[in-house]
Amino acid sequence: MCGIVAIIGNKPVATQLVDALKRLEYRGYDSAGVATLSGGHLDRRRAAGKLVNLEAQLNEQPLDGTIGIGHTRWATHGAPTTNNAHPHFCNGVAVVHNGIIENFSEIRQELEARGAEFHTETDTEVVAQLIASLLESGKSPEEAMQAAVKLIHGAYALCVLVEGHDDMIMGARNGPPLAIGHGSGEMFLGSDAIALSPFTDDITYLEDGDWAVVRKDRLEIFSTDGLPVQRKRSKASVAYAQVEKGNHRHFMEKEIYEQPEAISHTFAHYMDFVAKTVRPVAQPIDFASIDGLKIAACGTAFLAGHIGKTWFERYARLPVEIDIASEFRYREMPMTDREAALFISQSGETADTLASLRYCKENGLKIGAIVNVQESTIAREADVVFPTLAGPEIGVASTKAFTSQLAVFASLAILAGRARNTLTLEQESEMIQAATHAPRIVGSVLHAIQPQLEELSRELSKYHNVLYLGRGTSYTLAMEGALKLKEISYIHAEAYAAGELKHGPIALIDENMPVIVIAPHDRHFDKTMSNMQEVAARGGKIIFITDEAGAAASSMKTLSTVALPNVDEFIAPLVFSIPVQLLAYHTAVFMGTDVDQPRNLAKSVTVE
Ligand code: F6R
Repeated sequence: MCGIVAIIGNKPVATQLVDALKRLEYRGYDSAGVATLSGGHLDRRRAAGKLVNLEAQLNEQPLDGTIGIGHTRWATHGAPTTNNAHPHFCNGVAVVHNGIIENFSEIRQELEARGAEFHTETDTEVVAQLIASLLESGKSPEEAMQAAVKLIHGAYALCVLVEGHDDMIMGARNGPPLAIGHGSGEMFLGSDAIALSPFTDDITYLEDGDWAVVRKDRLEIFSTDGLPVQRKRSKASVAYAQVEKGNHRHFMEKEIYEQPEAISHTFAHYMDFVAKTVRPVAQPIDFASIDGLKIAACGTAFLAGHIGKTWFERYARLPVEIDIASEFRYREMPMTDREAALFISQSGETADTLASLRYCKENGLKIGAIVNVQESTIAREADVVFPTLAGPEIGVASTKAFTSQLAVFASLAILAGRARNTLTLEQESEMIQAATHAPRIVGSVLHAIQPQLEELSRELSKYHNVLYLGRGTSYTLAMEGALKLKEISYIHAEAYAAGELKHGPIALIDENMPVIVIAPHDRHFDKTMSNMQEVAARGGKIIFITDEAGAAASSMKTLSTVALPNVDEFIAPLVFSIPVQLLAYHTAVFMGTDVDQPRNLAKSVTVE
């Protein structure tokens, strides 16, 4: 989950490398480093902690090479120290790596038996040591690279420099993505196209098993067996301007406020608002003829799938089996070719989601992918891609990607309902009508409740534990609220289906445990009210997130009641996501945490 970058150009590249690493910091920010080749010799600067530390070092001791590699790390093997920071050097070879080398200890033992001395605890150092030993055995850099990719197993994106070869960078990919950017008289490599966006939008993606030799004016790509292969060049869709913070304090805040636009763009992609129908976007998945749908994803994307399941079952009478991707892939569940599978991923690179996709593909299922990054691996491997039109999401905590995923699920559920004759044209048209109002309502809710939520967050930041309750899709939003709160404020939070309260968690209720109840005035309302009574009777402090009808129907004493406008039940999850996100965001701001880059996390989880 680290970020890697490399540049071969005509002027010193260290500043550009750091600039690109800033756009990759979302992949990890435990330590960072750059190395350049100058006059045939390698030199590097590395620093533990965030990129500013590396920048400070480079200011004091600049590097002047016109060819270089850079890395921002999310530690897997070895603590996040300066010594374990990339690039790793061995006898004139420099390597940056994203991924995990699974057979690193076997290779290490073998090299050590032959006298190699290792200086770090990382899996990456074995790549530098291995290539160096292959060079020492008389191989050329290209032959050494070719031999190395055959020997290492696992997930990797690699960039390699070799002393005495100032005219080339080598790259390799198996798993995590590696984009190669074409400039004029200069070339770039990076973990994604966003990193390269200020330099070029002319991109070639390596495929799994590919390795490449990149020169200023030339790109050669080879398969694992050393045969030349052609990969297509395309224009990247990301615009650099879109990844600036604007007037917002954090990317997360900006992305929360971009939701009306993201939802509206996504709905407009799937829905014909004039004809009041959903466009036929699902082929080759035929919702009419399948008996069931499998869904897998991780984290917030999984929770979007959870709401998707409710909609597919309710509106299309289509049975859905959903699981978190890291469990899904190992369950050995029966599958038939009368089923399809849907995978959801903002980044399109999440390792467990990708592995689940491949597992279903091997079992003959048709694969759909709901992704935000169109050039991603998951998008490329799916039979049909359902894009979320959220634009780049930089804050580690997913916000606009989540609501855009809901917009896709809402559209697909309608499409499936029509295909399976479970929705009438009139119902379809009413649901589309409701969807057209969603962006406006989300926009007005964002502004209307912000001051109240900020005030409430000040209160919430005083507690160590928080419980979220809800039923139906509000239970999913309770899970999303708890996930958001813990990941960015570090306050412990749990979510329960409100009906489960009395089966255990009620024992936790006292005056030190705020309980956030999410309950619009829907089919579950009365039952959730009973659960809220149970909390109140035990002195629990309730934060009640409801709608105007719900607020009017309840006479319960709460710490605070947040009343959203009454909305159609179909779009309620989109609207009720907003207070959940704002509460987590403002609480984190009060706690003074690093909102966009919370500790231990990374935006793109390319390891299992
Ligand atoms: C939480 C969050 C994560 C991601 C998860 C999956 O706010 O952002 O839980 O949702 O890591 O990532 P993607 O969607 O890129 O597969």
